[in-house]
Formats: sequence, structure tokens, C-alpha cells
Amino acid sequence: MNTPAPNRTADADWWRQAVVYQVYPRSFADANGDGLGDLPGVTSRLPYLQQLGVDAVWLSPFYPSALADGGYDVDDYRDVDPRLGTLADADAMIARAHELGMKVVVDVVPNHSSDRHAWFREALASPPGSPARDRYVFRDGRGPDGSRPPSDWMSHFGGPAWTRVPDGQWYLHLFAREQPDFNWDNQEVREDFLATLRFWSDRGVDGFRVDVAHALTKDLSEPLRDYGGVHPDAMTELPLDGSHPLFDRDEVHEVFREWRKVLDTYDPPRSAVAEAWVTTSRRVLYARPDELGQAFNFELLVQPWSAEQFRVEIDAALSAAAVAGASATWVLSNHDVVRHASRYALPPGTDLDAWLLADGGTPEPDADQGLRRARAATLLMLALPGSAYLYQGEELGLPEVADLPAEALQDPIWERTGHAQKGRDGCRVPLPWTREGSSFGFGDGGAWLPQPASFGALSAEAQDGVEGSTLELYRSALALRRQLQADESLQWVDAGPVARTHLLHLRRATGWGSVTNFGDAPVDLPEGEVLLASGPLTGGQLPPDTTVWLRTRS
Ligand code: NOJ
Repeated sequence: MNTPAPNRTADADWWRQAVVYQVYPRSFADANGDGLGDLPGVTSRLPYLQQLGVDAVWLSPFYPSALADGGYDVDDYRDVDPRLGTLADADAMIARAHELGMKVVVDVVPNHSSDRHAWFREALASPPGSPARDRYVFRDGRGPDGSRPPSDWMSHFGGPAWTRVPDGQWYLHLFAREQPDFNWDNQEVREDFLATLRFWSDRGVDGFRVDVAHALTKDLSEPLRDYGGVHPDAMTELPLDGSHPLFDRDEVHEVFREWRKVLDTYDPPRSAVAEAWVTTSRRVLYARPDELGQAFNFELLVQPWSAEQFRVEIDAALSAAAVAGASATWVLSNHDVVRHASRYALPPGTDLDAWLLADGGTPEPDADQGLRRARAATLLMLALPGSAYLYQGEELGLPEVADLPAEALQDPIWERTGHAQKGRDGCRVPLPWTREGSSFGFGDGGAWLPQPASFGALSAEAQDGVEGSTLELYRSALALRRQLQADESLQWVDAGPVARTHLLHLRRATGWGSVTNFGDAPVDLPEGEVLLASGPLTGGQLPPDTTVWLRTRS
């Protein structure tokens, strides 16, 4: 356990049960009309987020980048992409968020830089074995002429994780070839990321989201260990003893213990959340109090619409978080996955990549069911102890834009998989703010991804003040959540063996109850004052695909 910093302010734990809203900056709001969202655009819409009732705003990368991977290919960790603004714009955005009572979380991408980063350019210009090359992972190839990659490791985006440079060596990239992996055995790399944490913390940033936290430290001892060319996404079961050469190695925790020391020098201490796609029991290790504090729990977003499976995952996440001394986290949508209003519109087990390739036509989505379930799932998530991470546009009930034409696609997944997967652009389509107008109020100069005509009716303007709209549901839920918030415990209310298969009824210490009907028949409403419902309640009953919040005596 770390020693608490002296004189910590009262809100040192603000993040433990915060609602954090993810902004994908290029798709949020475009102030200068170039078709690309920017930081002044974000600042201009902060009052909307305050009115929504979120505690914090997390911004996906806005750093200089060639956008080989939507900004997760960073040229310079301590600057702003000129197309998105300046450091002064970042300062203004942070200051305005604080004025409005919201915290700011920024993304840090430590596994890889972009190939335009000054260090990578220096590495390419330097000979094999040089200190500049040692900041990345360069190796000679296999075979008599070194023309085969140094190992059979695959990139997340398809193809080998190695690319050859003109002098014959190869460099490692677990993602696109424009994203060379850092060598975390290199002390300069470690120091540089501490400098980045200080840089943004000094500018007033309140926390960090840590990209692919589980991949930093690798077993790079020779000979490199082949793992059978398995695509990393197919590794559902990483070893639980940290023995995989690339992912979730035990040494990575030393890195985050160093980070925590730096984050704790600030008052309040800066928060951090790990993106680590590992099993629950290993994931919470990243969230220990002397490390990052939180780790994203993605289990709910991969579950089918099932009371039992939601309950199992909720229990597992809460108990694992409690053991680690962390707070739990919940996510239903983000910039990497099909939006939940569309996932729940599809039959269980739908292959989402195939569905996207079919432009969202096969199987045909049941959009009403999708939105009903999405709203019910959101109310359930917001009633759980811990932090809820919302993704921009889910408060409008936006569906995935599944029919983006091939020529519009920007995600490297499209090209790298030889057009076998469309990738993640469908959840990154710029937000609709107004019913009409150029790009529905996103900006004056069109949008970098085409928006469907249906976005007008889903815009913030069209839903503002409209009873029963998804936007008003989120606003009411977040306002109530603030009033009702309790300690981090949860009690299940047993509905009996039959109901248990389709009902989730939970209660928080303040008497705040939430009941979700996952079944296909209405059920009698449990006792309590109805505070909010995700859909209409009829005749004292809770219809299918609906969540209701109740006030009961605890
Ligand atoms: C996870 C990010 O969420 C994703 O968008 C990105 O492509 C990879 N990490 C690589 O940085």
C-alpha cells in the first residue's frame, strides 16, 4: 500500500463512483468547420455535459497524429494536434470543465508511439544495436538472409506484428505498422512517460486512461517465444500466472507502482484507469490502490441480454474489486465496439464483424428492442456501485452506423484485414447536435465520416426537453444517482427461483432499488416509490426489457 500524500483534499476519491463521459474528440464537435472535431468544439459543448450531469470527461487522444489508428498513434505525447487546437486550447478546455464542476481525464498510450515520433525517426536513422533503437523493439529476422520475421507474433489489426526496415532489421508493432511498440525495459522510456504524466497533471488534468496497459512489459529474451501465430483477439484465456510473452506479465505492475508514486504527488492525487483485456481476477491487480486505482471491466459489454449472465459478471466484478481495494467500473459502449443500442437489436451470438460487413442488414436488427434494452441496461449499470463510463452519443440512443460505404472507412482494421472486417468507424460517426443543418450541428464544414439522415431526429436538439427521450432519461438518471448514491455495497433482492432467471433486483444502502426485467412477460412491480423507469410502466407492472428505479426502506 502506498502512503497517502499529506493534506489530501476531501475529493481525493472523486473517481470511485464517478460517471465519466468519453469524448472521441474528432467526432464530438467541430468549432473551426474543417470537418474534424476539435478542442474548442469540446469546450463549447461542456455546458451540455454539465447539464447531462457527468462528473468527468475523458478525452481519447488529441495529440499530434497521422491518424493511422484514430489518434492512438501518437507523435508527441505533450502537444495537441494542430488540426484539433493548441496547448492553450487544452488549458482553456480544462479550466472551463473545472469551472463547471467536472474533472478531466486524458488518454495515455504507453505501449506504442507513432512511427512519426521523434524517437522512432531517430531509431530508423541509427544503426542496429544503438541506444536509439533500444527504445523500441528491433530484432534481426529469421532465416539465412533474415527475411522471415523474428517471431510468429500477430498484430491486432491483422498480419504479422513485425515490419522490416531498409537495413534488414524488423521492429515490433502489436497494432498497425505505424505504431511501433516501446521497449519497457529501457529506462529512458519509463522516465519519459513519468514526464508525460507530470506534464498533464501540472496543466490540471485530473486523471489518466491507460491504453493497453497489459501489454507494456514483454519477455524479449532470446530466442523469442513463438506462440503459434494466434491472433491476439483470439486469446480469450491468457495464462493466469503472467507467463505469456506479450500480455499481462507480472513485471508490468512495477511500472504502475512507479506511476502511482508520481500521481500521488498531486493534490488531489491523479486518478487512473487501466484498459487491460484480461480476466477479472488478473484485471483488478492493475487497480490496486498502489497502482492505477481502477481498471475497465468490459464484461457487461460482451454479455448477451441475460439476467443470469449479468448477475454473474456483476458479482464477479464487485468481489474482485473489493479484494483489490479498487472500485468497480462498468462500460456498455466505447469507441472500439458496436454501440449497445445496436448490439441488443441483434439475435444473441450474432457475429458483429459479419453483420457490419453486410452493412447491418443481415441479420436484420430490431431497432426498437435494441433501444429498449440499451436504456434498461444503462439504468441498471448506473445503479451499480462504482464508476460508470459512458460513450458520447449513447445518451442520444445512437445506433451503430453499420452501412458506412467502403470508401469512407478510416479504421486500419479495414485495410489490414484485407477487407474482412470493417472495423470501428460505425461508432465514431460525428455526433448530431441539431435536427438539420450542415452535419447536424457538428460543424460548418461537413463531417469526416458520413452521418445517416436518421441522425437529425436523434440529435440533442430534437430530444432536449422531450419527455421520455433517451437524452432526458440519462439526465434524470444522473441527477437521481447523485442524490441516491450510497456506499460501494450492493444487496440482491431475491425474487424467487422462477423470477431469478429473468429479473435482477438490487438494492443499495440508501434504499435505492433497481429492478430489470430481462424476460419476455411483464412482472408485478416490487414495492417502493417509482423514481424513474427506462420505458413506460403499464398497470403497475414492469414490462420486458425495462428497468425501474425504486425508493424502498433499506
Ligand atoms: C485500445 C484503444 O481503445 C484502441 O482504439 C486502439 O486501437 C488500441 N488500444 C491501440 O492503441
